[in-house]
Amino acid sequence: MPEAWPHPPAPHPALGPREVHVWRIPLQPPEPTVRRLEATLSDDERARAARFRFPAHRVAYVAGRGVLRALLGRYLGTDPRAVRFGYTAHGKPHLAPVAGGPDLRFNLSNTETLALAAFALGRDLGVDLERVKPMPDAADIAARFFSAPENEAFRAVPPASRELAFFTCWTRKEAYIKAVGEGLSMPLDRFDVAFAPGEPARLLATRPDPAEAARWTLRELEPGEGHVGALMAAGSDWSVATWHWPGDHP
Ligand SMILES: CC(C)(COP(=O)(O)OP(=O)(O)OC[C@H]1O[C@@H](n2cnc3c(N)ncnc32)[C@H](O)[C@@H]1OP(=O)(O)O)[C@@H](O)C(=O)NCCC(=O)NCCS
Repeated sequence: MPEAWPHPPAPHPALGPREVHVWRIPLQPPEPTVRRLEATLSDDERARAARFRFPAHRVAYVAGRGVLRALLGRYLGTDPRAVRFGYTAHGKPHLAPVAGGPDLRFNLSNTETLALAAFALGRDLGVDLERVKPMPDAADIAARFFSAPENEAFRAVPPASRELAFFTCWTRKEAYIKAVGEGLSMPLDRFDVAFAPGEPARLLATRPDPAEAARWTLRELEPGEGHVGALMAAGSDWSVATWHWPGDHP
C-alpha cells in the first residue's frame, strides 16, 4: 500500500493535461495541523465546521476542506485562502472561474478517517471512497439501487466476496454519478459498471445513450486501510498518479 501512495515529490507535482492526480488525505491529523488548516477556511466553511456535534466530524471536515484548499492553492500558485468555490445546482463544488486561469477541476470523497481528492485539467471527474464494513442488508440495497445486470452479477459473487463486491460496485457507480455531477437526480439503473472479483473497473453500458459509456474511463483506486475507491474521468487519454498527503505539506 505505501508504495502505491508515495509522499509527493518537491516541488509540488505539476498536473499535465493527460493526467489525473489523486491524493489520499488522512482526516484525523494532529491538532496543530488542524489549527493551521482551519486558518485557511472561509467564514462559511468555519461556520459549517462549528455546527458539527462531534469533534471527530469537525476535525474531518476541517482537514478535508483545508487540504483541498492547500492542494488547489499549490496547483494554482495561489494562497489557499484565496481559493473561491462555486456550486452547481446539484451541489457539486468547483473553482469559481478566474479570467485567464487554468481549467482545473476536482472532486472529493470522504469517510470519517480518510478522503480522496482528484484533480484534472479540462476534464470532468468524480471520485468515491467507502469503508468496507459488514452489510447484512447488501442484497436489499443492491436490489434497490443497482441495475438489473449489476444485480445478476452481484448474485453470482461467492458469499465470502460479497461485501467487497457490494462496496466496489457502489463506489464505481458513485464515481460516475459524481463525475456527471447530477447527484441523486440521476437514475442509478441507467448504467452498468463492472465490479465482480478480478474484473477490471469499467463503465459497461449507459442508457438511453449507449455512446455515453465510451466517453468515460473508470479506474479502481486501492486506498488501503479497509477502504475501496473508484475514479471516473472523461476521455481515455489520461493516466492516474496517486499521492499520500503527508500532514505537514504543502
Ligand atoms: C452527494 C453525492 C454526490 C455523494 O455523496 P456521498 O457519497 O455521501 O459523499 P462523498 O464523501 O463521496 O462526497 C461528498 C463530496 O462530493 C462533492 N459533491 C457534492 N455534491 C456533488 C455532486 N452533485 N456531484 C459531484 N460531487 C459532489 C462535495 O465535495 C462533497 O463534499 P463536501 O460536502 O465536504 O464538500 C450523492 O451522490 C449522494 O448523496 N449519494 C448518496 C448515496 C447513494 O445513494 N448512492 C448510490 C450508489 S449505488
